[in-house]
Parts: sequence; C-alpha cells; structure tokens
Amino acid sequence: MKRNSRWPGFYKLSVADRRKVAAEALGMNVEELVAAVGDGGLACDKADKIIENVLGTFSLPFAVALNVQVNGEDFIAPMVVEEPSVVAAASNAARMVREGGGFSAEADEPIMIAQVQLDDVHDLPRACHRVRQHASELIALGNSAVPGLVRRGGGVRSIEARDLGEGMLVVHLHVDCRDAMGANLVNTVAEAVADRIQELSGGRTGLRILSNLCDRRKVRVKCRVPSRALASEEFDGSEVRDGIVRASRFAERDPYRATTHNKGLMNGLDAVVIATGNDWRAVESGAHAYAARSGKYSPLCVWRKEGEDLVGELEIPLSLGTVGGPSRVHDGARMGLRVVDASSATELAMVAAAVGMASNLAALRALATEGIQRGHMALHARSVAIAAGAIGADVERVAHRIHGMGDVTLDAARRALSEIGKLSNSAPPPGE
Ligand code: HMG
Repeated sequence: MKRNSRWPGFYKLSVADRRKVAAEALGMNVEELVAAVGDGGLACDKADKIIENVLGTFSLPFAVALNVQVNGEDFIAPMVVEEPSVVAAASNAARMVREGGGFSAEADEPIMIAQVQLDDVHDLPRACHRVRQHASELIALGNSAVPGLVRRGGGVRSIEARDLGEGMLVVHLHVDCRDAMGANLVNTVAEAVADRIQELSGGRTGLRILSNLCDRRKVRVKCRVPSRALASEEFDGSEVRDGIVRASRFAERDPYRATTHNKGLMNGLDAVVIATGNDWRAVESGAHAYAARSGKYSPLCVWRKEGEDLVGELEIPLSLGTVGGPSRVHDGARMGLRVVDASSATELAMVAAAVGMASNLAALRALATEGIQRGHMALHARSVAIAAGAIGADVERVAHRIHGMGDVTLDAARRALSEIGKLSNSAPPPGE
C-alpha cells in the first residue's frame, strides 16, 4: 500500500487519537501499536535475556517524524529520543524539503570491513603480496564461515592488505552483509580467516574484529528547497536561505561549529537508529571518524545556494540492519521497523539519513533567523512543567505560561503551578 506521510495537525491530537490515526494509516490495530510501544516495548524478563545484571527497563518516548519523502516515496519515520523539539523540527523541515520534491538518496552496497591484525611481520611487502595472491582462497574460507549470509546473497567480496609499518600488517575483508548490520557476521569472518593469514604473512595474529568506519557503506542524500518554503513570519525565504548557507560555511571552517552542526544532524538520525533497534554507538563512531577523514573535523552535511533554491548534500557511512539484533526480541524495535516499512537495510539507512538532514536543516533555519530557543523552549517548557509537578491539563497550562513569560525555569514553573492551583480552587465549580 502506498503511504502518505503528510498528516497535518497530527501533533495537536491527544496520544489516544494519534494512536488511532497512526494505526489506521499504518494498516494495523491500535491494540497492536499499544502492545508494542505503549509501555516501553520491552518486558523485564526479555530485557534480562538481552544484557547482564538487569534490574529493570528504561523507557524513552517513541514518536514519528512526518512529511518525509525519499526518492518519491513517503515514509513515516519512527523516532526514539528524549530531547524536546527534535521530532517537531524534523517533521517541519521535511515538510519544506517536500516542497522541492523531497529527498533524493542513494547508497553503496551494504559492505562492512573485517580487520585482521598481524604483528611481527618481517617482510611486509612480501606478506601483502602473498595475501593478495591467495585472495580467492581467503574469500572462500571467509564465506564458508557464514553460509546463511551467502545463501541470502551476501558474503566476502574482496580483500585488501595494508602495510601499517613497524612490522604491522592489517588485512581487510569486505563483507556484503545484506540486511544485517553485520557486526557478528563480520567478526565471524575475521576469526575464520585469521590463522590462514598468519601462515601466509609469517606474522603473529592480533585483533580480529569489524571496523566501525564503514566507509564502503555510505549513504548520500540531496535535497533542493525552494526559498519560499523557508520563509517565516519575520524573514523572507531568500534571507533564510542565505543565513543557512552562511551557517554551513561557518561549520566548514571551524571544527567547534562543525561538531554542533553534526550533533544537530545526529539528533534525528540517531532517533531513527534507536527506534529501529540499531546500534547507535556504531553509527556515531563511524560518522565522526568520517567527518574527520581529511584530518580536519568537518560537517557531514553542507548547504549551498543554487539559483534561488537552497541545496543540501549529505554523505555519511551508515551500518543499519533490518534483521537480527534487538529486532528479534524488542517489541518496540520491531514496531519501529514496521512503521518505517523499508524494503531493505539500505533503504532504512537512506530514510534515517534523510531525517538527519531534516534535523540539520531545521536547526540551521532556526539559528539563522529567530534563534533556537524560541521553538525549542516552547516545547522544552512542557518537560519543565512536568518536573515542577504539573500533571494532566496543567502541563500545557504551566508550559504556556512560563514560555509566554520568557522564563522557562523550574522556579517559574513551580510558581505558575501554584498560581494555577489557586485560580482553579477559587473558580466556581462547573455548572454554577
Ligand atoms: P513552527 O513554525 O511554529 O511550526 O515551528 P508550525 O506550527 O508552522 O508547523 C509546521 C510543521 O512543523 C507541522 O506541520 C508539523 O509537521 C511540525 P503540520 O502538522 O502543520 O502540517 N510541528 C510539530 N510537530 C510535532 N509537534 C509539534 C510541532 N510543531 C510543529 N509541537 C518548530 C515550530 C519547533 C518545529 C520550529 O521552531 C523548529 O523547527 N525549530 C527548530 C528546533 C530544533 O531544531 N530543535 C532541535 C534541538 S536543538 C539542536 O538541534 C542542537 C543545535 O545546537 C544544533 C545546531 O547548532 O546546529 C541547535
């Protein structure tokens, strides 16, 4: 079924009504949705089978980013994140990108790198040569350790030997992991071939492990936003566009700014990674290593003016899976995958990267115009109201009041709560 991710005003509904609308749009029962994510998506007895020394579980909000269109297709992007305004911002920017035709994305084959380290190699050039000469044998040996992956069309594709100097050789095996993130598969391959590589190289085997710098598994996303789509009440579109381009230049020149720029991007991307049960530490380490590949830490996504439009380009290594890992046992992660409904791990990576790009755009648009605090604080005010003890309808009342006063602090929220309490105590009971 073709989906439509434009659900205007969805955020204004109650949670119960949102669940109804989402279940209908996603072609499932409300009960299924609630059973999967209503209470954290993970029962304690299951949690106890996932990690060690478990005492309980720890929930985070599960939400959806809307308006996301990638390669002409609509996606509902599941997001798990604790930071207010991230989901709103991603949906808001995705709506602007839609006006320019949505995101266009492409990705490499899902190739991960297995590393085998050899120490005390006396003749490094000869060892490199011997490994290359025996590449077919090593590929076959690696594949024999992962027959299931080979049956699914994946497996070891090629081999590379790198001379690291001082007697150290590292052999890379490039493994196509298909729809798996691939850590276990790749580690299995590395261990399976290590003894033979040791024989061939004459060295001593060291580490046998994947690399999280999966730069053969990159995603590239582009978007073109007409400047009119960027306009706000106070700023016209071309001013906003030029401000975003200047913000991008700032990040390109300064690693202090590039770090925060990339953080804004990872806000959205990580949220999709977590909601689909993927390993966000792997994604983070790969992304930042890639951002620093030139020797200078740089923005992963850059923005330029082309004609009257704003054009964004993102390139990021991304190892995501739609099979294996927590998706086997975590109901919330399974629901995340069902919600996004990506046809492959590669497509999931393209959607996650597009949400990251939308997050980056929303933050830059706010920073280049009214500043981040206005939009962010309006939504952050609700968490502050809850921290001050507000419940039910009082949360919105307190949030509205402290945001209106421009004082989104715990003290202000406590004062507002006590004033609201007084007002409602003195108000006549309903019906009089
Ligand atoms: P707005 O203009 O008031 O929104 O923006 P709107 O009422 O015109 O609504 C536009 C669309 O936004 C809506 O479309 C929704 O999709 C979405 P519609 O439903 O009407 O068709 N939207 C919402 N979705 C869910 N809940 C909501 C909500 N409100 C709007 N409550 C908004 C308000 C907060 C979106 C805007 O001010 C914004 O995008 N701000 C940016 C905030 C941001 O980027 N936060 C991220 C955290 S801060 C960060 O990233 C770190 C940083 O340091 C990174 C960096 O430095 O680069 C900043």
